Amino acid sequence: MRFSFYTPAYLLFASLAAFPVLSATSFSPLDITTIAAPDGSIKAGFMAFGATLTKLLVKNKHGKLVDVVPGFDNTSHWVTDGNHINGCIGRYANRIKNGTFSIPITKYPQPDGPNVYHTPLNDHNGEDTLHSGVGWDLRNWTVVDLSATSVKYLRIDDAENGFPGIVNVTVTYSVEDRGVLSMSIHATASEKTPIMVTHHDYFNLCLQDGCDDVLEHKMQIFASRRIEVDGDAIPTGNLVDVSGTPYDFRAGRALGAAFEEDRDFLGYDNALIYDKSETGEKKSGVSNVVRTTLSSDVSGIQLDIRSDQPAVQVYLASLNLPRKEVHGGPEKKYGDRSTVAIEQEGWIDAINTPEWNQNQIYSPERPFNWNTVYTFSVVR
Ligand SMILES: *[C@@H]1O[C@H](CO)[C@@H](O)[C@H](O)[C@H]1NC(C)=O
Ligand SMILES: *[C@@H]1O[C@H](CO)[C@@H](O)[C@H](O)[C@H]1NC(C)=O
Ligand SMILES: *[C@@H]1O[C@H](CO)[C@@H](O)[C@H](O)[C@H]1NC(C)=O
Ligand SMILES: *[C@@H]1O[C@H](CO)[C@@H](O)[C@H](O)[C@H]1NC(C)=O
Repeated sequence: MRFSFYTPAYLLFASLAAFPVLSATSFSPLDITTIAAPDGSIKAGFMAFGATLTKLLVKNKHGKLVDVVPGFDNTSHWVTDGNHINGCIGRYANRIKNGTFSIPITKYPQPDGPNVYHTPLNDHNGEDTLHSGVGWDLRNWTVVDLSATSVKYLRIDDAENGFPGIVNVTVTYSVEDRGVLSMSIHATASEKTPIMVTHHDYFNLCLQDGCDDVLEHKMQIFASRRIEVDGDAIPTGNLVDVSGTPYDFRAGRALGAAFEEDRDFLGYDNALIYDKSETGEKKSGVSNVVRTTLSSDVSGIQLDIRSDQPAVQVYLASLNLPRKEVHGGPEKKYGDRSTVAIEQEGWIDAINTPEWNQNQIYSPERPFNWNTVYTFSVVR
């Protein structure tokens, strides 16, 4: 490429390497990059720290753009916060029993056996690994591509947190007319390694319309089974039929209904397995089948989620953090059950549950892909 006074710096970088460093000088990891759909129906902000979604503006029933994700106005607070707010989590999301796995996987890996790996024991008093230790959501990524409607981030994970080999991972965020946000994650590994990724997005669709909690949000999830877990949130290996339980969202139910039905109900932090559907399935990528919906009568906003992932974690959270100014902060906090995390993911800790036959080991011959599409609309 010929150097020209008018050539933007990032285009010069883009021509130099497979993974150009678009932003080395122009973007700090905590700077917000905003993308917007041409029709003005959706605007999303991201930062390179954690490849994090910092804000997500969609239209409510009054036609006003409102931010439907919690977070901080001062992005440096993400660096010290432990709630994984809206970040891209890897190399292995959710828990790993005793922070131990083997390749090939085995039911009870011997701690000092061959091809056994240990990840940080950062959860439940050292009983397991959560979100890889210091995972991808707590690391700085690099902007490698940018347009008015799309931004792409890159990380090179060089055997971090005890995992084997190097993983190059990119995440691309794009917005489209009619309220669409797509997230696409692609990873390549230098040697055999587990990869299981999620995007840890918390939602409250009516924070700017006066809601303090999400208990009246209606959720629908097309899943008839959930993964049973023990007291450390580690899978027992059993799958449980959700029929007649608080986890049966198939016909749609309010997130708060279970607390009214059962005074001892503690809340949601569970992985459900999506049912396979007869229509719209594709071999790869996102099908036309909606997997999960979340809606609020107060704002009139409905979120439809399509994903190529087999499972979803539902985590009803009380963040207890100062709100963004648009949400009434910083005096006011995101309080009790103020938000729900909806995480598209693989079967949790399948690397210690061989009986499930989930192949989560990736290699130079087997790249990893994760695709999710959020579509926002006004229902009433
Ligand atoms: C953001 O937070 C950091 C860390 O607490 C603080 O040092 C900085 O002054 C804050 N920035 C603003 C603009 O408030
Ligand atoms: C858990 O892993 C540690 C090594 O990180 C090992 O010393 C210990 O024996 C393991 N516990 C079990 C029950 O396998
Ligand atoms: C990421 O970048 C921020 C801002 O420059 C810095 O404070 C932080 O230490 C970096 N984090 C890591 C894990 O390198
Ligand atoms: C990761 O990217 C680097 C830099 O482009 C490249 O040299 C390396 O081969 C890549 N590794 C994998 C596993 O894709």
